[in-house]
Amino acid sequence: MTQEKLEIFKYLEGWAEENMLTFLKKVEDSWQPQDFLPDATSKCFTDEVKDIRARSEGLPDEYYVCLVGNMITEEALPTYQSFLNSLNGTHDETGDSMKSWARWTRSWTAEENRHGDLLNKYLYLTGRLNMKQIEKTIHYLISSGMNMQAENSPYLGFIYTSFQERATFISHGNTARMAKVHGDVTLAKICGTIAADEKRHEMAYTKVVEKLFAVDPNTTMVSLADMMRKRITMPAALLYDGQDNNLFNHYSAVAQRIGVYTTKDYGDILEFFLERWGVGEITGLSADGREAQEYVCGLAERIRKLEERTQKWSGSKCSQMMPFSWIFNREVEV
Ligand SMILES: [Fe+2]
Ligand SMILES: [Fe+2]
Repeated sequence: MTQEKLEIFKYLEGWAEENMLTFLKKVEDSWQPQDFLPDATSKCFTDEVKDIRARSEGLPDEYYVCLVGNMITEEALPTYQSFLNSLNGTHDETGDSMKSWARWTRSWTAEENRHGDLLNKYLYLTGRLNMKQIEKTIHYLISSGMNMQAENSPYLGFIYTSFQERATFISHGNTARMAKVHGDVTLAKICGTIAADEKRHEMAYTKVVEKLFAVDPNTTMVSLADMMRKRITMPAALLYDGQDNNLFNHYSAVAQRIGVYTTKDYGDILEFFLERWGVGEITGLSADGREAQEYVCGLAERIRKLEERTQKWSGSKCSQMMPFSWIFNREVEV
């Protein structure tokens, strides 16, 4: 990041105050995990837990694999806050900086913190899961960290977070729909509420990228192409439970098969953002910017073709059963 680029983010601090921080909810107006959980101080507590357990019987193992994977991804929140604080020009310089970028990062983290907390507690109460294995996986994942390949650049960083928030919005939205189909309306409400947060965060990050396209179209275009060439890696890519060296791929394969998050979604997200940011219509670019624009505008189509080929291939391949430690090594088709 050159001094000139750092100046852009300094200049945008006031803009972020008025256009980004406004997407956050006040603590007093926010939902908390306890709103969706049995009250441990109430006489009805054990009955309510029994209800959760009864409803959980209707949900298949493959669904639990996806939901647990999503919950573990949320629980690795320290990694994502570290990531945001690695970005030059927008990081929290003191830990309690009053600059708008830093305030966003802390409040965003506080909002996100409820996601893993709520899912973790609810899943624990179902009594169907190997919590020790799940906790070990969280421990491993936070210890491993994650390189989002943003190279300390807020241009790359905010493109990454836009994608991630939309991906989680889609994924939690799908687990909500499936919970409803399987008869657990409380779980559907939980996943739906989390999905709504992700949507709000997506809107904030996409607004930042939209602004970056307006003030510095060339760097933003080159950054978008750069991020897409590297591919947006999922934050749980280093998933490990102490047993399965290929756990992320196995979890992703289940998510793909039952439709919680698919390669088609990845292409759709790119297409959505190309439209949202009007990427094809941006003018005034230099040669490298135009080359980047051409690349990203053609990419959605290439991803779609690749996806169709993968679909055909997976339709013809033999299914394989994999044990997942999170569900006591019961086997699920991947
Ligand atoms: Fe989240
Ligand atoms: Fe999120």
